[in-house]
Amino acid sequence: TYVIGLPCVDVLDRACVDECPVDCIYEGARSLYIHPDECVDCGACEPVCPVEAIYYEDDLPAEFAEYLVDNARFFTEPLAGRDAPIGSPGGAAKLGAVGADTVMVAALPHQLA
Ligand code: F3S
Ligand code: F3S
Repeated sequence: TYVIGLPCVDVLDRACVDECPVDCIYEGARSLYIHPDECVDCGACEPVCPVEAIYYEDDLPAEFAEYLVDNARFFTEPLAGRDAPIGSPGGAAKLGAVGADTVMVAALPHQLA
């Protein structure tokens, strides 16, 4: 799978969303997250992110390693303010912005100067 890391947080450029052929890039509150079971590894999202937040899982810089697990957590664990896990909706557009983040992302300090 491809993974969205720290540079997306509080930026949310969303250019990646328009490129994904399977609509598997989901919007939280402060970041977007790639669904690891829905991503088909096409790689179209990676070059369009202006802050280089997207990596193939094997190419993740060490400082973003936790984001491989955390992108998956967005779908499998309850989020702050949302009791039921998202699961596999099979499309981000119909779900819309979720308005919540993983516990890890929610706890990050604000990323914009
Ligand atoms: Fe985030 Fe980059 Fe997409 S900033 S929303 S990963 S284009
Ligand atoms: Fe979509 Fe990027 Fe995966 S464009 S299919 S999330 S590699």
